[in-house]
Amino acid sequence: MERIAVRHLRKTFQLKAGQSVLSDGRRTDRVPVLSGVDLTVRRGEFVTLVGPSGSGKSVLLDVIAGLTEPTSGTTEIDGQTVTRPHPKTAYVFQQYALFPWRTALGNVEYALEVRNVPARERREKARYFLDLFGLRGFEDRFPSQLSGGMQQRVAIARALSGDPEVLLMDEPFAALDAQTRDILQSELLRIWETIGTTVVFVTHSIDEAIFLADRIVVMTARPASVKEIIPVDLPRPRPNDLRNTPDFNAYRARVWEALRDEVRKAQGDWSLASAYAH
Ligand SMILES: Nc1ncnc2c1ncn2[C@@H]1O[C@H](COP(=O)(O)OP(=O)(O)O)[C@@H](O)[C@H]1O
Ligand SMILES: [Mg+2]
Repeated sequence: MERIAVRHLRKTFQLKAGQSVLSDGRRTDRVPVLSGVDLTVRRGEFVTLVGPSGSGKSVLLDVIAGLTEPTSGTTEIDGQTVTRPHPKTAYVFQQYALFPWRTALGNVEYALEVRNVPARERREKARYFLDLFGLRGFEDRFPSQLSGGMQQRVAIARALSGDPEVLLMDEPFAALDAQTRDILQSELLRIWETIGTTVVFVTHSIDEAIFLADRIVVMTARPASVKEIIPVDLPRPRPNDLRNTPDFNAYRARVWEALRDEVRKAQGDWSLASAYAH
């Protein structure tokens, strides 16, 4: 059964007076961002979304999250139209959106406080999720005392502690160094394999998109629609050295092939487009 159904989603931003922008050489105060996105995600599926920078990926996640209203079209979660943030949807951003005045444990507990989980259960659950991410011993540290990778682990632990049915992740590892990123990808998969949450994960790294996904959704340049969906038929659990196999390489070529023209369209510059290739 499908967990998420996005149907003919359109989003045009109406800018306020004096905020007009140049588009195709003309001044306009309407910015079309999504131009008819259709996508379904199965229960427990891990879908990654790639597309040129500025194509509307974050806007799409915001609409699925119920944070932004679409101009037309619908998003359904378990058959119910999303009109506001769904209690069973959690969101992880690129920036570690942690409260600086709360410890790691306090940050994870926060997600449970707002759900009125009793104090004792809250503490146990928060510890459980921090443990899952190897953060035992770091419970009492404040975000400023943690590395970027650890902060993002806390942010994901916090998102998962509310037992979300849908986890939306917007370039959550983009600010991390390459090694930390690879490690976090493996950790996320390991945990996802045990809890089975449905995940929609935006990235601009082709490798990350392949390594994580059951299916990769390639978006067009803005205004965005779905250009191609590429099923990733690689075995799970996925070992780190999967990235060095011929099969993985074949996916790299295939995703880049689908993405290349869109990146060119979006940036009009081949040298910038080639920056996407790694
Ligand atoms: N609130 C807003 N008002 C006007 N334009 C917006 C707003 N939010 C996003 N946009 C525009 O929508 C486009 C897509 O943005 P975004 O979804 O952030 O792209 P990305 O694919 O990089 O995540 C961009 O051109 C951005 O300027
Ligand atoms: Mg974005």
